[in-house]
Amino acid sequence: MKILLASSEVHPFSKTGGLADMVGALGKALAGAGHEAAIVTPLYRGIREKFPELRREDWHFNILLGEEWVQGGLWSTVLDGGLKIYFVEQPDFFDRAGIYHEKNISYPDNDQRFIFFSKCVVHLARYLPWRPDLVHVHDWQVGLVPILMQQQKSEGWGNPPATCLTIHNLAYQGVFGPEAFTLTNLPRDFFTLEGAEFYGGLNCLKAGIAFVDTITTVSPRYAREITTEEFGCGLDGLLRKRRDRLFGILNGVDYNDWNTTNNPNLFKPFSVTSIAGKKINKRELQKFVGLPVNESTPLFGTITRLAEQKGVDIQLGALAEMLTSNIQFVLLGSGSPDFEKGYQTLARRFPDKVAVRIGYDEKLAHRIEAACDFYLMPSAFEPCGLNQMYSLRYGALPIVRATGGLDDSVIDFVQDAKRANGIKFHEYSNQALAKAIRKALAIYGQPELFRRYQRNAMKADFSWEQTLGEYVRVYELAGNCQIHAM
Ligand code: ADP
Ligand code: GLC
Repeated sequence: MKILLASSEVHPFSKTGGLADMVGALGKALAGAGHEAAIVTPLYRGIREKFPELRREDWHFNILLGEEWVQGGLWSTVLDGGLKIYFVEQPDFFDRAGIYHEKNISYPDNDQRFIFFSKCVVHLARYLPWRPDLVHVHDWQVGLVPILMQQQKSEGWGNPPATCLTIHNLAYQGVFGPEAFTLTNLPRDFFTLEGAEFYGGLNCLKAGIAFVDTITTVSPRYAREITTEEFGCGLDGLLRKRRDRLFGILNGVDYNDWNTTNNPNLFKPFSVTSIAGKKINKRELQKFVGLPVNESTPLFGTITRLAEQKGVDIQLGALAEMLTSNIQFVLLGSGSPDFEKGYQTLARRFPDKVAVRIGYDEKLAHRIEAACDFYLMPSAFEPCGLNQMYSLRYGALPIVRATGGLDDSVIDFVQDAKRANGIKFHEYSNQALAKAIRKALAIYGQPELFRRYQRNAMKADFSWEQTLGEYVRVYELAGNCQIHAM
């Protein structure tokens, strides 16, 4: 098939979280399986300097945004394996220090920035000479693409591609005031309860859910959860209505990036059959972050956006209790200033046990996964989660709350004693997490058992080959139901 993916972030060019990893990896997997795939994404500051191979395309956008015409350009590159990446250039919108915000404050013109980008995606979908069969949009930033395509269809675009929307996180919907709707230049008929309107404002993700041919989200359990009031973030009714077009597909992992055997980020390679190197990674990390070097002290880690979703409050509570035991904890993260302070305070209280790195550091992320014995991910909700899957491969047993993709990807002793590869807890509380950490320490205290968990973890396989077929089936369905609808 010919597939155009559209996303506001794509690894390795831009990233704030798992969205970038997922879209980059899916694109590569599609191209690797022989599909004609391309990704379109904004040209943010620094990309051209970091990737000098980018070439300017002879293509200019002149996009009407409300009453103003905004111009943009196009750059591209082709990755090994044939995946083409298009970059939309618009310096006023995208040549900035952040992707969505600076100093924790969202850019006030995010509506303009991403409505402009969505319109560029539609323009490419319509005029690219290779004519994609399907446009696959990701999250609210490109949620308006299906509705914009629908409009162009009614204005004479004969045979537009089918559409698919992946919801990576229902908590972020791209909600703006009603005036933002004028930027879409869509007829008022689209600004209704059945369309883009949400409590009087514009909701970009809702517009996508309402108008797209097929919807996916990033794990089967999250697909079920978002149709309930508890997890539906106000859109559960609409999602229930579209249930027959909603599919939960667990994200895959790009093991070319996330592996322990051929990875320049690690201090030493290791594998399930040659685990000794993991100890060296542990010692080197302890040195690197200034913790006492001790192979036998169980080391826990977390790498995360410091957002409420990630269960930071219960993690801080449980750690304060558990750090009186002989454990170490290392955190890499950034986000809410209060949460950053919370971890810094913990590090001051337990200087020999806690190392905190505030910031974003990809190399350190790999090093932490490789060094840790356990990985903590006590999310309140988690659409998929990638770090628990990376941890499994890196032999850091994940301790997760049984929600969303965490529940779908980690196997607990209670579920399957033989195949157990991590620890799950259910209740969202400090106590439940502390209890899970105590279980981890009990496992760690039995080297044979710990090794069995670790072997199971490292052998777990979330490669894209496993799930790509599910996406292709959803794409085909999108094409079919689109034909029926015409
Ligand atoms: P989410 O997308 O909700 O943040 P995921 O687990 O799906 O959660 O993906 C998070 C991704 O972002 C992982 O690749 C993780 O390593 C990376 N990441 C998060 N915070 C940092 C950080 N401070 N430094 C480096 N990588 C980070
Ligand atoms: C979102 C979700 C995360 C998921 C990622 C990639 O950021 O919060 O759970 O893994 O998208 O799909």
